[in-house]
Amino acid sequence: MYRAPRGTTDILPDEQVYWSFIRQKAYEISVLYGYRRVDTPAFEDAGLFVRSIGEDTDIVEKETYTFDDRSGDKLTLRPEGTASICRAYIEHGMHTLPQPVRLYYDAAIFRYERPQAGRYRQHHQYGVEALGEGDPALDAEVIDMAWQFYANLGLKGLSPILNSIGCSVCRPTYLNSLMEYYTKHRNAVCSDCRRRLERNPLRLLDCKKPSCVPLTEQAPRSTDHLCPDCSDHFSRLSSYLRLLNLPFVTNHRLVRGLDYYTKTVFEIAPEREESAQATVGAGGRYDDLIEQLGGRPTPGIGFATGIERLILNMKKQKIIVPQSAEPFVFVAHISQQAKDEAMKLASLLRRSGISVIPSLGDRSLKAQLKQANSMGANKAVIIGEDEAKSGTVVLRDMAKGEQNIVPRDVVVETLRKTYHRFVLVENRITCAIMKVG
Ligand code: HAM
Repeated sequence: MYRAPRGTTDILPDEQVYWSFIRQKAYEISVLYGYRRVDTPAFEDAGLFVRSIGEDTDIVEKETYTFDDRSGDKLTLRPEGTASICRAYIEHGMHTLPQPVRLYYDAAIFRYERPQAGRYRQHHQYGVEALGEGDPALDAEVIDMAWQFYANLGLKGLSPILNSIGCSVCRPTYLNSLMEYYTKHRNAVCSDCRRRLERNPLRLLDCKKPSCVPLTEQAPRSTDHLCPDCSDHFSRLSSYLRLLNLPFVTNHRLVRGLDYYTKTVFEIAPEREESAQATVGAGGRYDDLIEQLGGRPTPGIGFATGIERLILNMKKQKIIVPQSAEPFVFVAHISQQAKDEAMKLASLLRRSGISVIPSLGDRSLKAQLKQANSMGANKAVIIGEDEAKSGTVVLRDMAKGEQNIVPRDVVVETLRKTYHRFVLVENRITCAIMKVG
């Protein structure tokens, strides 16, 4: 028996209401803040992620799905979205567009992690990136957007946590003092942290091991080592956030697991939840990344949120999502001749924008209506031998159990009076129909 690979899940039809609700809200907030959709390939040149996320990060060291394709190219399934967006920005010369370029995406992400609740090997992120502007007002916009997005989903009790980890000017001095501090306490930290100390000392600050947590309290703080530019950026961002009434807290231990960040980093998590997989969304500024990838110096900031984690939190908070109203008409038949007419009618109804499920096989009318009922049909159109001959149909209201005879050439109009077409957003026109009466 084959099963879905470990750490992946099938998103079954009953779950899809959450997905479409979240995607609808993501689309709405993106439009509201002026962001436009971009889709990039699910895999990229492996070097792109090594270069951007950093060689000494957990993601690159342990979590990427990397493979050689049949022509020997080394490729990686995207373990996050930012690097691909920056690559696309450079590749398509987006620096010629009015800056900042505001983009959003909704994509499957692949990380070889230890699966547990809220942590999967394939998850999905809705993310935004604003490229080409260094103003802290843009950082505030992105954090505000994340905050509004969660509010629009109905999520409560979230808290944005903020920090600044400086830039290439001030970070080296900070890293030195961090190394000095941790070298003194080398024997007290876990073996992972001892290993990280030489190569990526920032990571020691977010180690969750009981041996390491107390040491992080006394560790030097990045905000005490910021250069004037980073310090000014951080204080302006803080005052913009206060201006927008965003209830953020600063936490000097917040460093994030990707190396491309400069200045602002932030995470949004349910209050009082400490586990790493509680975080619903996170982001930050990456002012050197586009240049590191071969573009001109271009600042950027963004955030991403895991859709599965949103759903977990929405369920925990018992948020009711609107069930998608997808009424449909069941077309039943009695006899072979009637079945031909039923097929023609089903096709006509569908072409007229009315959702139809026709009965298949040759069961009794009772069995067909039982099926229509258990599927939740709103109406049934029944064609028997008499109706086939006389050009009529029986139109049955499934809830009330009432039925009447209608000429076949007016059934479409009759049904269209109770249902009307409804156009869904996002480039696709879906003929979902909504009941109005
Ligand atoms: P990240 O913190 O690695 O950041 O991931 C963003 C969000 O994706 C997390 O807050 C979490 O909700 C979700 N997530 C991450 N890993 C998993 C997993 N294994 N299973 C389920 N959900 C997960 C980034 O990826 C950055 N690219 C964010 C960003 C955008 N920074 C700037 N722009």
